Amino acid sequence: IQRIGVLTSGGDAPGMNAAIRAVVRACAYYHTDCVGFYRGFQGVIEGDYEELNARSVRNIISRGGTILKSARSREFLTKEGRQKAADTIKKAEIDALVLIGGDGTFRGGKIFNEEHNISVIGVPGTIDNDIFGTNYTIGYDTALNTVVEAIDKIRDTASSHNRLFFVEVMGRDAGFIALNSGIGAGAEEILIPEENLGLERLLFSLERSRRSGKTSSIVVVSEGDKIGKNVFQLAEYVTQNLPDYDARVTVLGHIQRGGSPSCFDRVLASRLCVRAVELLLDGQTNMMVGFINNKVESCSLEDALKSKPDINKDLLRISDILST
Ligand code: F6P
Repeated sequence: IQRIGVLTSGGDAPGMNAAIRAVVRACAYYHTDCVGFYRGFQGVIEGDYEELNARSVRNIISRGGTILKSARSREFLTKEGRQKAADTIKKAEIDALVLIGGDGTFRGGKIFNEEHNISVIGVPGTIDNDIFGTNYTIGYDTALNTVVEAIDKIRDTASSHNRLFFVEVMGRDAGFIALNSGIGAGAEEILIPEENLGLERLLFSLERSRRSGKTSSIVVVSEGDKIGKNVFQLAEYVTQNLPDYDARVTVLGHIQRGGSPSCFDRVLASRLCVRAVELLLDGQTNMMVGFINNKVESCSLEDALKSKPDINKDLLRISDILST
């Protein structure tokens, strides 16, 4: 392996720059050329890349977003698109790719490897934390801290006005952000896609809270929640049934994806990406690096894509106890 390409793909996540930096610096350390592709696989298709050296990534460890930009390339989903991408790889004499992103990115990498025999290693980077084979994905810790800080502020105004707030957080199909930020911010109720607790239970719990003397309440709702109503419909349903509540809705949205990465995410990105480069130099391919029980580990991309990580449903019980 003489020349490694790196890209970020899918939804961006804080810590992606720390990851790019670690790939580039590890390549420099091992005397291997490194190029960065812009806009994920789309940049590979279009031949949009730049040579990167150790100095190209100075002062980016603390920056949110990704200097390589990100995209969800539709063209790469087609055979023709992947052929164009393979042509670029051949022309640029690239031997292997480090793919920083989520499951969509890994699915793309796996099929690219199968069709064109290009070595790939995946690095889990997404705020959702929904990747099997790692306890943490890059960006998740920062996003959690962003959400907790936002809910703390919402709590201030909720409490001043005796209001009930529904706060929608990201996590398309995964409740990791909702569950952990909900506990961290002391939410009264947490709704996640992995467990449909039902509307009746929500009404019962809010009614109980009110009767117990609580003056403000926060319900954290994951955007992928399966309760069958969006957050605005949910707020409306609750106020229709519990007219004493003065309810408001806050959708935190993309602020969760931005910001300077936490120290945890910077260290995670650094450790995972050094290992990703080392695996490639060691002749490995079609693997994903992950962080399990405080150690950097690796598994096949196939295994990483086979299932979703289990969410710790005991945290729902903890939340229930603590919101008494
Ligand atoms: O996968 C990361 C994520 O932030 C999800 O939590 C969210 O559902 C989605 O991306 C939003 O994507 P977009 O930025 O394309 O609207």
